[in-house]
Amino acid sequence: MINYKDLGLVNTRDMFKKAMEGKYAIPAYNFNNMEQLQAVLTGCAETNSPVILQVSKGARSYANETLLRYMAEGGVKMVRDMGATIPIALHLDHGDSFETCQSCIESGFSSVMIDGSHHPYEKNIEETKKVVEYAHQFDVTVEGELGVLAGIEDDVVAAKSVYTQPDQVEDFVNRTGVDSLAISIGTSHGAFKFTPAQCTRNEDGVLVPPPLRFDILEEIEKRLPGFPIVLHGASSVVPEYVEMINANGGSLADAVGIPEEQLRKAATSAVCKINIDSDGRLAMTAAVRKVFVDSPGEFDPRKFLGPARKELIKLIKHKNEAVLGSAQHG
Ligand code: G3H
Ligand code: 13P
Ligand code: ZN
Repeated sequence: MINYKDLGLVNTRDMFKKAMEGKYAIPAYNFNNMEQLQAVLTGCAETNSPVILQVSKGARSYANETLLRYMAEGGVKMVRDMGATIPIALHLDHGDSFETCQSCIESGFSSVMIDGSHHPYEKNIEETKKVVEYAHQFDVTVEGELGVLAGIEDDVVAAKSVYTQPDQVEDFVNRTGVDSLAISIGTSHGAFKFTPAQCTRNEDGVLVPPPLRFDILEEIEKRLPGFPIVLHGASSVVPEYVEMINANGGSLADAVGIPEEQLRKAATSAVCKINIDSDGRLAMTAAVRKVFVDSPGEFDPRKFLGPARKELIKLIKHKNEAVLGSAQHG
């Protein structure tokens, strides 16, 4: 059993308390490889932002769960060597079972999500409560989820979103003991969050997505005053990256995300954690595609992964400074 405190990590409790008081949100960035980890930590250290490093079940099988754990440990050391003291949490994203959560906790994670959102309500409560009881013995924080996001959550694909019902949140939080709650108010996973039919078009013909359901968020805040809320599926699907990908041989038609000003607004509310994965993927892919188009003879991975890492650092600094507001709160 490895305790996260021995690795220099923190759980999310104090981070969320400060984010709630300071009206900003903690960024939760997914990583699967060395360049993503370096970029996330460098971007957060350089903006003096607290950070949640997120690992999905898919990431654990892609990178190898043991290697990933040591990479996170090495990442903390790298940040400290840079002279940064920012709080860093290591979080399991979309934990699918008690066993996955337990395995992460035993290997040094400071926070886990148990995603029972696709289960019937009572089963979600039962599964979530079991994880909370185990995790809290080690002071590991737990995120639960109520409501279903459209899109892909690891192996689970939901065609349509089911908004969180405000009437359920108090009962769910009280009966499970979770430390934070992911809700569904119109965000979704991936780079295609809305179909063109769900959007309107502005005067330039650009797709404008339907606004987030801030009315549902307000109802939830009334029922759970001061309780940390989490937004998944919160990438903006940055148009510049989509254009850069398409201009360099890619094909991402009608990719659309959550506008930055809506995320900025959410960050000033009870939303304390905002999950971003797709935007990082787009930033790296845009940079890699450009290298291959500009320099078709390039074959040293450092020559395309290096620019990809640089672009991701730029994106992360922008998110922390201009969208989540977490910069200078480290
Ligand atoms: O919410 C899902 C995250 O973007 C992780 O995606 O399961 O493909 O690693 P993944
Ligand atoms: P995006 O696909 O919008 O980046 O969402 C990521 C996420 O919610 C990870 O849990
Ligand atoms: Zn998610």
